[in-house]
Amino acid sequence: MEKINLRDYVATVKDYPEPGVEFRDISPLMGNGAAYKDAINQIVDFAKDLNVELIAGPESRGFIVGSPLAYALGVGFVPARKVGKLPREAVSASYTLEYGGVNELEIHKDAIKPGQRVLIVDDLLATGGTINATRRIIEELGGVVAGVAFIIELEALHGREKAMEAGEVPFLALMEY
Ligand code: PRP
Ligand code: ADE
Repeated sequence: MEKINLRDYVATVKDYPEPGVEFRDISPLMGNGAAYKDAINQIVDFAKDLNVELIAGPESRGFIVGSPLAYALGVGFVPARKVGKLPREAVSASYTLEYGGVNELEIHKDAIKPGQRVLIVDDLLATGGTINATRRIIEELGGVVAGVAFIIELEALHGREKAMEAGEVPFLALMEY
């Protein structure tokens, strides 16, 4: 079978959602069965040696990457939700975005047990604020971040440094822009 080039399934939109931002839209990738499967399978391969016990993904595009991955690995999925959505006691962390100001994510307090190994995934790493906040919550709950994985890394925004602020962990990005 012909090798899939995932770049063919990323749409670039200039000046969205505000002037100066080049938005990398993974909708075409998700909308193509072969491309979506290829992306998830590459992350499955990365996760295999990491003894992952849980996948965590930030709302909302992290759910699109994290849920099929959790299913493929046979582990649970923990959503990091935007503030105010979770019905039970939660731990939260705030962060700033490439666009759109300050945001806050939270995870249910009982979603992660101390010592559990968690792989954090998202569609895209920009400034790293989202992944850094997700990591802070997981570590506050006693979880161990086993690695971080993305479909896209925007290298110019240096999000990788922010993702590793609390210490180096295995890193995967399927594409760099
Ligand atoms: C986007 C993207 C990442 C985050 C990356 O989500 O899906 O989660 O931004 O940016 P950062 O590295 O600068 O934090 P967004 O907050 O736009 O929410 P959405 O997934 O609900 O569209
Ligand atoms: N999230 C933050 N920055 C982004 C960008 N440039 N494209 C898509 N999603 C993003």
